[in-house]
Amino acid sequence: MAITISSFNFKGGVGKTTTTVNLAKALHSLGKRVLVIDADAQGNASKMMGFRLVTEKDGKTLYEAMSGNASIMECVFCENENEESFDFIPSRPNLYQCEQELVSRTGREYILRMMLNNLEDHYDFILIDCPPNYGLVSINAMVASDYLLIPINCEVFALDGMGLITAKYEEIKKLVNPKLEILGYIMSRYDKRLSLHRQAYEQMNQNFPGKVFNTTIRTNIQLAESPAQRMNVFDFAPNCTGAADYMELAKEILSRLDNQ
Ligand SMILES: Nc1ncnc2c1ncn2[C@@H]1O[C@H](COP(=O)(O)OP(=O)(O)O)[C@@H](O)[C@H]1O
Ligand SMILES: [Mg+2]
Repeated sequence: MAITISSFNFKGGVGKTTTTVNLAKALHSLGKRVLVIDADAQGNASKMMGFRLVTEKDGKTLYEAMSGNASIMECVFCENENEESFDFIPSRPNLYQCEQELVSRTGREYILRMMLNNLEDHYDFILIDCPPNYGLVSINAMVASDYLLIPINCEVFALDGMGLITAKYEEIKKLVNPKLEILGYIMSRYDKRLSLHRQAYEQMNQNFPGKVFNTTIRTNIQLAESPAQRMNVFDFAPNCTGAADYMELAKEILSRLDNQ
């Protein structure tokens, strides 16, 4: 049965999408069967995975599944049709409608979780890229998940909002998903030469002992450039530090899960 991990942070620009897509590729290279769900209406992850609205089938995205207009199976695409790769469920701006439409649905927090029951046996990992807010789509992602993976951007007010994330995690765990755990915090755009970044890392370790990954994702130009080419960093620049860091993160996650 798949392990489901949501990449979550209220803030935008902290590395949620970069982490989801590159981690998916790394886990796939390590022999895991992986599905990425783009749960952000901005569709950044979808673009990085090469999704374009070209055929009628391309109109089957997360919104169509969540609103009952398509089966979840119909909405699964392959990241690279030409070689064995990981799968994904894309999103486009109509996912914004979901926030309003879910409000009046019975069991509104559980819609995604119920749908994933049909897919769980096909994958080892389901990675969900969350939007930068705490709406019903994010809540659906957290209710469908076993773990939260929380990217922290060392550059801007790194630790701002950590209390709010913890409070929301505890609320979801208490009220709707008792099995939800925090897999870990991953420091992104990390530069160990900067004392500000080292201090942020130390403070995170003090506040969340054992929960901050040893791996850090260094600032890397190829990580910033690859989305414009609609590629993950492994396909774009396999030898760059971004690829090395995400591979190390994948291995650390696998060993963390093995020890639990
Ligand atoms: N380690 C990194 N080094 C350089 N650029 C990065 C790094 N991580 C992310 N980026 C860039 O920062 C921007 C925001 O990252 P993104 O993953 O889209 O954040 P989020 O999904 O949290 O909004 C993107 O342009 C991305 O390419
Ligand atoms: Mg994003």
